[in-house]
Amino acid sequence: MPTLDAEVEAPPAMDSSHRIAALNRNDKPFHVVLAQQFDRTTIEQLCQLADMIRTVGASRQGTQFLLTLLSHRRAMLYFIQPSTRTFLSFTAACQVLGMPYNSVRDRSTSSEVKGESEDDTIRVLSQYFDLIIMRHPAEGFAEHVAHILNDMPRTIPVINGGSGKDQHPTQALLDIYTLFRAFADPETTRIERRYMRNVFSGKTIAFVGDLKRGRTVRSLTYLLCRYPGVRLLFISPPELRIGEDILQYIGRHSVEYEIADDLPSRIGECDAVYMTRLQDEHDVAGESKSIDYYRYALTCEMAKDFKPGLAILHPLPRRHELDQRLDSLPQAKYWAQVRNGMWMRAALIAAIFNVDVAIRDHYHAYYNF
Ligand code: NCD
Repeated sequence: MPTLDAEVEAPPAMDSSHRIAALNRNDKPFHVVLAQQFDRTTIEQLCQLADMIRTVGASRQGTQFLLTLLSHRRAMLYFIQPSTRTFLSFTAACQVLGMPYNSVRDRSTSSEVKGESEDDTIRVLSQYFDLIIMRHPAEGFAEHVAHILNDMPRTIPVINGGSGKDQHPTQALLDIYTLFRAFADPETTRIERRYMRNVFSGKTIAFVGDLKRGRTVRSLTYLLCRYPGVRLLFISPPELRIGEDILQYIGRHSVEYEIADDLPSRIGECDAVYMTRLQDEHDVAGESKSIDYYRYALTCEMAKDFKPGLAILHPLPRRHELDQRLDSLPQAKYWAQVRNGMWMRAALIAAIFNVDVAIRDHYHAYYNF
């Protein structure tokens, strides 16, 4: 069993292709646990599907069509770590697809207080629901849940909505969707596959802040490694550098990267900047109190150096590392990023339940202008 809030653990005693095989069906993600499950084709198909859902969902007739798709399935949101955006965007995504859902957000209301193991709680949930979406403080727990579910006579999928410090794959999907849209030709209303192939080529994407403990950074880096030609810049205090395991992964995928620790002198070369807050809930003994995190804040004073096409992203919640006065700039993409999350999560759930084909057919029948 994984330990609560442990250091990022070495993967279980399986190599990564076996880990991914245990999570996929027919080479497609069934359980969504690791960002490494998503290849370029799957990422780009999901982005297109998210675009189709938002277009279809803009009309009453389209909304009513979407509502029929999963009205015969039920989702459980098992979120026992704090969440606003991920929880609400998953509930909104379920609502878009007409999928009823229920939630457990506090262990003190579950039979775990009577001594039931968490594994048994998961087994029970699998009998009532058709999908488990979960957020958990322990690294590796979502993967462990996938294995529990694989061993049940009735196997249902699990989606990882954030597991300790290690992964947050659905955030990474909505982040890359936001990057595609931010870099899109303003004349293009839809994301074209053709265009997606080269969009990251020659682009510098900077990650800033607590890169050691930020799971969104880890997951998005895995996805960006599918795009050779991108350049990754990791700007953090020396104490909060990105993990060696991620750097090794990047190295294996021949993606160019650089480690830096000064934001103001580097902002001018960035095409996208991904800001993150200090993840001090993971401190063991208040060690991050001694870090001058103000040096890793994006401020109005830096705006003079921004490229006109810069995309500023933040998974939120933010603290002082992202100046509110930047919100009105065209470069600020973080509110769009929140909304993109709802469409992307709807696309992901639709793909897991194989109703993506119906959405594509509907889209092409009514909106393919
Ligand atoms: C992030 C998370 O939970 O990892 N938030 C989110 O899901 N949008 C980032 C964070 O908490 O800093």
